[in-house]
Amino acid sequence: MKRLCAPQELAEGQSRGFEIEGRKLLAVRKDGQVYAYHNRCPHRGIPLEWLPDQFLDASASLIQCATHGALFLIDSGECVAGPCAGQALEALSCVEDAEGIWVQS
Ligand code: FES
Repeated sequence: MKRLCAPQELAEGQSRGFEIEGRKLLAVRKDGQVYAYHNRCPHRGIPLEWLPDQFLDASASLIQCATHGALFLIDSGECVAGPCAGQALEALSCVEDAEGIWVQS
């Protein structure tokens, strides 16, 4: 497992980007639970964000691709609107303990 950050470094309702061994990842905390995905839009295979750590739509209830606006469910990565609707972000299994937030490497 690879450590992303300390638990308090990902607040409720926030998203963050990470680069672990050359792979771009993103994590979102929703209802206390952390979800992690590869930072790669299924539409064009490019990173989702234009601004650092900004992965959510205006309502902070969906993950959004900045390039063409695809929207993804936070808890499953499923694309529910946009050019890659029906596809999904690639999820990473993720655990959290007192030391940090960890993803499967
Ligand atoms: S690259 Fe993400 S919606 Fe087109």
